[in-house]
Amino acid sequence: MTFIVAIDGPAAGGKGTIARAVASRFGFAYLDTGLLYRAVGRRALAELGPALEGESELVRIASAITEPDIHRDDLRTAAVAQAAGRVATVTGVRDALVTFQRRFAGQQCGAILDGRDIGTVICPDADVKLFITADPEVRAERRFQELAGRGEATDFKTVLGDLIRRDTMDAERDAAPMRPADDAIVIDTSDLSIKEAVATVIAQIEKQ
Ligand code: C5P
Repeated sequence: MTFIVAIDGPAAGGKGTIARAVASRFGFAYLDTGLLYRAVGRRALAELGPALEGESELVRIASAITEPDIHRDDLRTAAVAQAAGRVATVTGVRDALVTFQRRFAGQQCGAILDGRDIGTVICPDADVKLFITADPEVRAERRFQELAGRGEATDFKTVLGDLIRRDTMDAERDAAPMRPADDAIVIDTSDLSIKEAVATVIAQIEKQ
């Protein structure tokens, strides 16, 4: 019997931090599905240039993504994040990434996947579905600290603007828009510490 936890929500809401802690608590495998879209975005920028044009080219790039592509250390930049948001609007790109995600979710040890459409499209039968969010300013501050910590030259206003633009694109696109599944539990982490947020999620999983 596999056990699947689906976590969706906007950028920098705390999904990754929570998912890692939960995975280590229960021994689940963890997949940050945003890395797949970032891997496609990075390759598309390199191969097609900043216009990212050509649907068949984008689908070709997405179809060729394998495990090593998501373990690169150059996927967390602001430019790659925006490119990921753009390629993620293309249905053919999303379709090309489904098998990878579902295979990961089927592991015997149990799996936790985070992204934007895990509870709605990738794993609609997940055992636990969560939608983790926080106020845009709180999320932008977290992302700003993360980027600044890595030495990326940026400022809070730019980070906030980028984040809101990407959230809007993710929520309003036609292809698998970001939204909580009907049976998802929505958790707002704006006023929660990491410890509190992790404890809230663990309690939800233990209820199952
Ligand atoms: O989670 P992260 O910020 O790394 O995701 C980068 C982008 O990839 C998101 O803004 C979104 O456009 C896309 N994405 C998606 N579906 C997922 C995961 C990420 O569309 N399941």
